[in-house]
Amino acid sequence: MNILVTGGAGFIGSHTVVELHNAGHTPIIIDDFSNSEASVLKGLHKILGEEVKFYEGNCNSEEFLRSVFAENSIDGVIHFAAAKAVGESVENPLKYYDLNIGSLIKLIQVMGEFKVEKLVFSSSCTVYGEPDEVPVSELTPRKPANSPYGNTKSIAEDILRDVVKAGMNYQFIALRYFNPIGAHESAEIGELPNGVPSNLVPYITQTAAGVREQLTIFGDDYDTKDGTNIRDFIHVVDLAKAHLAAFDYLNGKSDSFYDEFNVGTGEGYSVLELVQTFEKVNDLKLNYKIGPRRSGDTVKIYGDVSKANKLLNWKTQKSLEEALKDAWRWEQKLAERK
Ligand code: WQD
Repeated sequence: MNILVTGGAGFIGSHTVVELHNAGHTPIIIDDFSNSEASVLKGLHKILGEEVKFYEGNCNSEEFLRSVFAENSIDGVIHFAAAKAVGESVENPLKYYDLNIGSLIKLIQVMGEFKVEKLVFSSSCTVYGEPDEVPVSELTPRKPANSPYGNTKSIAEDILRDVVKAGMNYQFIALRYFNPIGAHESAEIGELPNGVPSNLVPYITQTAAGVREQLTIFGDDYDTKDGTNIRDFIHVVDLAKAHLAAFDYLNGKSDSFYDEFNVGTGEGYSVLELVQTFEKVNDLKLNYKIGPRRSGDTVKIYGDVSKANKLLNWKTQKSLEEALKDAWRWEQKLAERK
């Protein structure tokens, strides 16, 4: 199948392109490099042994989308392209609502013009807010997001659900990601944070590489086993494979269909446990300190992923240790490039 991957040069998008190709599909990438770079396409070429068809542009432009659909007979879409910096979304909400919601609406409309019905959407566990209990299942009520970024994910899910409820002929799946970490074992692609990383693992690997002075753990006075936050850290390659499984599942669907799935490991690890695991598997000492809490942080969240395990016939294969080894190998490869 020809699968359009919007944001396909991004962290999760590029790893998904690899898995689509390995499964015999033909991925077509759209990206505007606002949160990625052209070097990712070179990395994909090295891994796949061939160029991936690529269009540079922004999904919030209808005529750009139309030009791509007109040139290719697209069987389905995976929509990653979005702005995703939680902090920036608080300062600049309009950019987030315009881009993240605008591009989804335009994408669905252009898909309709070309009779493309299948879409896998990149959602996030952030729709659960601070859950009353963990693990969270898909039946756990969503809570008001604590950032405009998170709210755009919730609104996007409502759009998908309402379009299908209106009886329009689409088949949609929303995948609710937890915390993607790690990198492809080849170290040809991986996470490329813009500027100072806000996410934990790239900050850790940059500290280990001497790019950052010291990691600050944001608070160790939470009501958890060691006082630090609990998260569901999923290897990005396992997450990429979940998109393939979601597409295979959609292949069996017709008419109007929408469903949502948690994609995580189903286990929760604390921030401190992750730091200590990173030190152990990579045999190094990390320079870190405990600092004040970061506002907006969820205390603990991890997924009940039994629905995806059963219906998508998908489950994570890679361990936290593997992810942290792969993340470190990628950071060292980046250092060699400089
Ligand atoms: C994880 C934990 C921090 C950095 C965000 C988005 C979510 C998704 C994943 C896109 C927290 C702690 C972090 C640091 C730290 N993004 N931390 N020191 O906040 O769980 O989720 O990214 O879909 O939508 O909200 O990820 O990696 O920022 O933080 O102590 O320098 O690591 O406090 O407990 P988060 P994160």
